[in-house]
Amino acid sequence: MAKIKTAFFCQNCGVQSAKWIGKCPSCNEWNTFVEEVLTTAEDPLWKEEKSINKTRSKPIPIDEIEMNIEQRIDTHDQELNRVLGGGIVSGSLVLIGGEPGIGKSTLLLQIALQLNKVKVLYVSGEESEQQIKMRAHRIGHQSNSLFILTETNLNSIFEQIKLLKPSILIVDSIQTLFTEKVEAAPGSVSQVRQCAGELMKYAKNASTPVFLIGHITKEGSLAGPKILEHMVDTVIQFEGDQHLSYRILRTTKNRFGSTSELGIYEMVHNGLRQVSNPSEILISQREDGFSGISIGASLEGNRPLLIEIQSLVSTAAYGTSQRSCTGFDAKRLNMLLAVLEKRGGYRLGLMDVFLNIAGGLRIEDPAIDLAVAVSIISSLEEVPISKKACFAAEVGLGGEIRAVNRIENRIIEAEKLGFEQIYISEYNTKGLTLSRHKIEIKPYSRLDLVLSDLIK
Ligand code: TYD
Ligand code: MG
Repeated sequence: MAKIKTAFFCQNCGVQSAKWIGKCPSCNEWNTFVEEVLTTAEDPLWKEEKSINKTRSKPIPIDEIEMNIEQRIDTHDQELNRVLGGGIVSGSLVLIGGEPGIGKSTLLLQIALQLNKVKVLYVSGEESEQQIKMRAHRIGHQSNSLFILTETNLNSIFEQIKLLKPSILIVDSIQTLFTEKVEAAPGSVSQVRQCAGELMKYAKNASTPVFLIGHITKEGSLAGPKILEHMVDTVIQFEGDQHLSYRILRTTKNRFGSTSELGIYEMVHNGLRQVSNPSEILISQREDGFSGISIGASLEGNRPLLIEIQSLVSTAAYGTSQRSCTGFDAKRLNMLLAVLEKRGGYRLGLMDVFLNIAGGLRIEDPAIDLAVAVSIISSLEEVPISKKACFAAEVGLGGEIRAVNRIENRIIEAEKLGFEQIYISEYNTKGLTLSRHKIEIKPYSRLDLVLSDLIK
């Protein structure tokens, strides 16, 4: 009898090893190696009946390659369209990851229902037809071109696909699928990899877009192998706080668009509602007179977002100061604190500093630096910042106020939302016609000058 070949796979990142090892050399996780049976190279499960292309490829000069303008399917959901880079590209493989209960199934079912007249097959390995029907009823849309299949065996799924010939395939979730070609359990590295590989061949050969739902481990990465992220065209994370109703779609990889786009939704009683003007929800309706709050004019992708930054600065107990921030880079916070201490003369060394970006967002745009610095000093000095002021500038190590990109977009958004002053860098004023804007533009070159103007 032929010996069954096995190998060990890291369940975290998918690295293969001939023998068991305690610590993964690739991702440094401990105790993640599990033995799985290796597969032999067999025929792929998905084969297009007629067109098995046997011809070898030849090199072609690049100017002779015909460019097909990509056909994109409109999802009728502006947020998802934007995140995908303008709709669904045919033959693309999209992975949507997120924690349990965040709303992945709801989002894709809702999209499938909205795509009326496009034949969609929704394969569920997690819920029964009844449960899906109940959810569809709750969402409230009607569609006569959506088909539900509750199946986890990939071979049977492909049989049904051949009969139905859907225009879009949704798989909920990739971790529940299995193929008999691999002996490992569903959800294991080799199963996930094999099934995703087969689905990728199907997507490319049949030019059918495939959406895969993937679970996320408690560490926040996609469960199963990192390899899945390499295989697919687009990786979308669906994130949000379980206790808040806002949900954010964020691309971490996109072969057909930018990765800096955000989609924002609110989970309501009948599904996910698109939030087309997020600045309104990100800025709380606060009363005047609270210190430690400032508004930063940030840009996520092409989209200007005004966000509220909240700081609390208080004397550290027992002389050991704590710094904690949510939604902002901790190292950047420390840098800003050092700049405030050194260039502004503020005594922050023995203070606890807590920083929070409202709405559960995570912001990497350096243009909110100035707003962060202002909110910290506002809390330290207990001087509130006007509700009508906002900030868009980076702060340098010398305490200088630096220019940021696309300042005009930020100014226009601030103006639209009724702000009366925007503090920017002096270097950003070149090319700006200040008189064109109703909002008062306040250019500065140094952080201490901004602070002494605001906090008298
Ligand atoms: P679900 O899509 O099942 O999450 P996932 O597939 O990511 O695990 O989302 C489930 C949650 O969403 C559940 O806690 C209930 C809530 N929900 C609503 O608040 N409103 C709705 O209309 C629906 C369908 C779900
Ligand atoms: Mg689900």
